[in-house]
Amino acid sequence: MNILTTGANGQLGNEIRLLAARDSGSPAGMTNGSLSGLDPESHFLFTDVTEASEESVAMLRKLAGGAPVDTSTRRLDITDLEAIRTLVSEEHIDAIVNCAAFTNVDAAESQPELAELLNAKAPENLAVAMKEVGGLLVHISTDYVFGGDPYNTPCREEQTGTPTGVYGLTKLHGEQAIARVGCKCVILRTAWLYSEFGKNFVRTMLRLTAEKPRLNVVFDQVGTPTYAGNLAAAIFTILARPVPGIYHYSNEGVCSWYDFTKVIAEMADQVRHDCYGQSGLDHRSHSGLDPESHPSRSSCDIQPCHSDEFPSPVKRPAYSVLDKTKVKQTFGLSVPYWTDSLRKCLSALI
Ligand SMILES: NC(=O)c1ccc[n+]([C@@H]2O[C@H](COP(=O)([O-])OP(=O)(O)OC[C@H]3O[C@@H](n4cnc5c(N)ncnc54)[C@H](OP(=O)(O)O)[C@@H]3O)[C@@H](O)[C@H]2O)c1
Repeated sequence: MNILTTGANGQLGNEIRLLAARDSGSPAGMTNGSLSGLDPESHFLFTDVTEASEESVAMLRKLAGGAPVDTSTRRLDITDLEAIRTLVSEEHIDAIVNCAAFTNVDAAESQPELAELLNAKAPENLAVAMKEVGGLLVHISTDYVFGGDPYNTPCREEQTGTPTGVYGLTKLHGEQAIARVGCKCVILRTAWLYSEFGKNFVRTMLRLTAEKPRLNVVFDQVGTPTYAGNLAAAIFTILARPVPGIYHYSNEGVCSWYDFTKVIAEMADQVRHDCYGQSGLDHRSHSGLDPESHPSRSSCDIQPCHSDEFPSPVKRPAYSVLDKTKVKQTFGLSVPYWTDSLRKCLSALI
């Protein structure tokens, strides 16, 4: 099976690189795989619009722990249907995992055309390319397709919603465009994604709780953090035995952004203590983050606040929890609790 990953230099794309590397060799550009559940002959091809950053490459090498990891990037702009067709044909691609998207929720409000192009038209292109060769598209969507409707129980796949902003609306358009094309497709809606790579809430809060004496964080938005490494593992299971449809995947549990931040700060202290002893003073960060920005103990005073204290162009959902029953039952997945996964990520970052 030849598997093309788009947006391979983003958070999720890098986790897929890592999983592909864990038990395989990697000649330049393609990775020979011997992966749990996946055909051992599987090959991965990693594409994006830019090269991988030095920081991401260093993190990939560190996390791969000596296994050869494919850090190469073939250029593929998924807004270009002809370029997709060419690559699919040249590399005999059987499946595409689409990790590329316009993911900046606030910026989407001022760039709706670009958001629509990346989040709706581009997935349609990928669906067309897979339909033409009878291949599989695994596409990542979001809890923000539900948006403003006042749910107070976890959302199931068949529920409908009303996105509150351009990002959620364009991601919904992407799902609808793929359905219209009618290729073999798995759509995975996820939420609150973080990883060791790129810009995300965990890395931002690690820095802010180290730098600032006091921090206000919203407690009136509730959801579930998702470690991209867990989502990548779920994608591998799905690739091995695909059952087309829409599924929800986040970690288990529920918290507010305030709770999330408190746990990040407290768990980071524990991880430093476990790694570097009581003082924690001589530790060195392997994360590419400035080691000086990680004191031995966070003394930041973290306080809950309301969303209206942070003016934003988008109203975010107050309750956005995904019901994962379908993905667990269909693929036999066991989903880690969010704090267990957070500890794993922090251990790599600190
Ligand atoms: N992040 C979250 O909290 C979250 C929550 C729910 C769902 N999701 C969904 O999960 C998926 C993965 O998210 P992520 O956080 O891993 O994304 P990410 O880190 O923003 O990575 C997306 C990658 O796609 C690339 N890209 C942009 N335009 C492209 C184009 N025209 N062709 C090919 N690649 C392009 C980006 O490059 P540049 O960086 O150079 O633009 C980036 O490397 C997305 O579908 C997202 O909507 C994310």
